Amino acid sequence: MTNPRDVDATRLATRSLAQGDPTGWFEQLYAAAQAGSAIVPWDADEPNPLLVDWAERHEPAGVGGQALVVGSGLGRDAEHVVRLGFRTTAFDISETAIRTTRERFPNSPVDYVVADLLDPPSEWTAAFDLVVESITVQSMPLSVRADAIARVAGMVAAGGELLVISGIRVEGEHVDGPPWPLTRAEIESFAVGGLRAIRIEQVSLPTRPDAYRWRAVFRKDLTPMS
Ligand SMILES: C[S@@+](CC[C@H](N)C(=O)[O-])C[C@H]1O[C@@H](n2cnc3c(N)ncnc32)[C@H](O)[C@@H]1O
Repeated sequence: MTNPRDVDATRLATRSLAQGDPTGWFEQLYAAAQAGSAIVPWDADEPNPLLVDWAERHEPAGVGGQALVVGSGLGRDAEHVVRLGFRTTAFDISETAIRTTRERFPNSPVDYVVADLLDPPSEWTAAFDLVVESITVQSMPLSVRADAIARVAGMVAAGGELLVISGIRVEGEHVDGPPWPLTRAEIESFAVGGLRAIRIEQVSLPTRPDAYRWRAVFRKDLTPMS
């Protein structure tokens, strides 16, 4: 029997990046996990507690409208967002992740689709009242960071909100990712195209009080400021 640790995410990522393919390893990892020979490190039973906590404390604007979950992985956050009352689309670059998620949640009202953040459908531009980006941008190398951030920001509708959750990197710190956590300047750079930062905070995880993450909320004005 194959040990689930035989295929590890770091090894797949290193090989994929060396071949100039920054995202190909995700599909390989999900496929290996489906075959029982790998573990998806971010697979969890519960939605991200920082998303849950944010939604409890702050009624998200646009409930009843459209939400988009970026890099939805195995669906835990998208299933939470749909329960908040949004018509929810969730996308991932990995076909196996999307297929596995549909199998996990066969009756889900979430529209799970395969799509690439770096080349999203044009109809998603400025289309969503809530966009949730949790640890996907940090999973992509720094060479595509600015593009990835601009794409995420570009999908927020006028009057809509963007929630970003990410690991923290000190400015100038070198990391051998993945992941490549975000600096404060990178978090602030989501404020483009009419989005402005409402709150940028470093919060600890309920399960690990010593581990901090960025949680940032941006809003796009109904009438963009000139
Ligand atoms: C670190 S995982 C996080 C998954 C999920 N957001 C979570 O918090 O559990 C990053 C996810 O982003 C997806 N991903 C990476 N690059 C992507 C891209 N260019 N477009 C869409 N999804 C992407 C991966 O397949 C993976 O599921």
